[in-house]
Amino acid sequence: MAIEPIRWKGDRLELLDQRLLPDQSVYVACKSAAEVAAAIRDMVVRGAPAIGCAAAFGFALDSRNKSDLKKAFDTLAASRPTAVNLFWALDRMKKAANAEAEAIAIFKEDLAMNRAMGELGAKLIAQRARVMTYCNAGALATSGYGTALGVIRAAFANKKDISVVACETRPYLQGARLTAWECVQEGIPCTLITDNMAGHLMSKGEVDVVIVGADRIAANGDTANKIGTYMVAVLARRHRLPFYVAAPTSTFDPKIADGSAIPIEERPAQEVTGYRGLRWAPEGVAVRNPAFDVTPAELITGIVCEKGVILEPNRERVLAMLK
Ligand code: MRU
Repeated sequence: MAIEPIRWKGDRLELLDQRLLPDQSVYVACKSAAEVAAAIRDMVVRGAPAIGCAAAFGFALDSRNKSDLKKAFDTLAASRPTAVNLFWALDRMKKAANAEAEAIAIFKEDLAMNRAMGELGAKLIAQRARVMTYCNAGALATSGYGTALGVIRAAFANKKDISVVACETRPYLQGARLTAWECVQEGIPCTLITDNMAGHLMSKGEVDVVIVGADRIAANGDTANKIGTYMVAVLARRHRLPFYVAAPTSTFDPKIADGSAIPIEERPAQEVTGYRGLRWAPEGVAVRNPAFDVTPAELITGIVCEKGVILEPNRERVLAMLK
């Protein structure tokens, strides 16, 4: 059965609570923009395209409720700072004549873009490739299907005998909890590793290609994605492995010249000092928890979007693709 992170019910939005996966599949019902904003902030729903889709439906709920739409916009826009899909979707909603129809269009277009990226990206994945991925850029992170994991899904569906190496993705474990779960659900062979094993596996020749998603891509191709992605990109270059990014055009932010201007979310210290109530670090220690990092364009072999593949991305090639 297809994984459905977001279900629109006309008078409410149902979100699969990703905090509880893989142990439980429970839906949270949201009836206002404020409830959707809280669900985004609290990670019920996460992943750049999924955040954009959820925010669009949140706006549609307040439009239906005849609430203050300026307030709805501001509340949703304040939920998380890095994924540009949130602001892209809200800008569309602000201009739309029919809020519900626009939110449904955003949702459906996202699914179509995922499918298109899947077909384009699958051509880059060789028969029997061992594909490393990071974080979760799957069905759960989108309206369904996925970006990086969508490419993997498409390659698998196209009878390529591939396997996945999923990095667990500390501190929030999107790789271990969500990517591994999606692969197990679909029977895609998947090996889970901790993040610090990536270099070792590459050095042993156990990885052929890396593909990840993105939260915001600057005009020059610099790409913000889950913290640790940069480290994997550096390792991929050291081992001469192709490093691909898969992201729809809704994840591009051509107004930002390069990655240095991408806002990076800082998340609570508790995500680093422990997990689900278990604490392993001493009280009183200083903690940093940036949720994203920027991979410079020079480390990226290609960016797969729904319109094509931008090889060796730079400003000229990115802007040409977005035209
Ligand atoms: O903090 P998250 O879980 O929202 O971060 C998600 C990622 O970094 C994904 O890789 C990115 O949003 C792409 S999802 C198709």
